[in-house]
Amino acid sequence: MFHKRKKISVIGSGFVGSTAAHWAAQKELGDVVLLDINEGSAKGKALDLFEASPIEGFDSMVKGTSKYEDIADSDVVILTAGLPRKPGMSRDDLLATNAKIVKDCSEGIKKYAPNSVVIVVSNPLDAMAYVCKQVTGFPRERIIGMAGVLDGARFRSFIAEEANVSVKDVQAFVLGGHGDTMVPMPRHCSIGGVPLTEMLTADKIEALVQRTRTGGAEIVGLLKTGSAYYAPSASAVQMAEAILKNQNRILPCAVELNGEYGMKGLFIGVLCKLGGHGVESVVELKLNETERAGLENSMKAVKELVEALEKIQY
Ligand code: LAC
Repeated sequence: MFHKRKKISVIGSGFVGSTAAHWAAQKELGDVVLLDINEGSAKGKALDLFEASPIEGFDSMVKGTSKYEDIADSDVVILTAGLPRKPGMSRDDLLATNAKIVKDCSEGIKKYAPNSVVIVVSNPLDAMAYVCKQVTGFPRERIIGMAGVLDGARFRSFIAEEANVSVKDVQAFVLGGHGDTMVPMPRHCSIGGVPLTEMLTADKIEALVQRTRTGGAEIVGLLKTGSAYYAPSASAVQMAEAILKNQNRILPCAVELNGEYGMKGLFIGVLCKLGGHGVESVVELKLNETERAGLENSMKAVKELVEALEKIQY
């Protein structure tokens, strides 16, 4: 019997999009479509990546296109289109420009890939996931913002470096919006199953938390011409893999809350179970006072951004 491969479409062939295509193809998650309004960029990068497949030995078809009809029947769409920030800019400064871009892309997704699970990567992340939801009307399990996996990965890298241990043995995650108000959760971090608070001093942990909060800006400050892309794209592809392989992974993702943490209708980073339907469930944690205050502060910041968005004609 003939079994169809899974299909992953990546919208935006910039650094994040093309690197996501690279990870997804190399992991043989399925066939990959790379779509960009700049057709030459999409086709050139896709062809180049396909030509790497005999060397790396991956059986994934990679196709570049500028036509939305080519994303038809996608299982997962990774939406990366939009401008990156420059030094001195916050993610929020991208609101108006990227809202328009994400709206256009979301219309294409709604029309041509109405059954897909969408992973939103464009910034400001939580607000762009909201735009995608408004335009597509997809149920909440199928619009998922990528941020917590990235911020968590940064936190895990810094912890591993500080403790001089393998990154594989470090568990850590981050809740809240993908911005300065994000809420790293040291109480829930561990090294080899041992609570982080028993392995590092409070001062050291606080320094790592701060570095995590400004992790995106640290890269922007170094690159000067754009923002991070290796870790953001790897994060999006890890989420895609969880969905495509129905893994039921527990990962922090930006999803529309429906009463969890006392909030409704707002996209924000929370711990989720990711499986074949997208968000299988939200894992609501019992927060202590500091964590709750941090999350509420972050929800307030995202809410203000969404309110600003509603005043813009995008
Ligand atoms: C970052 C951008 C992609 O955190 O938001 O690097």
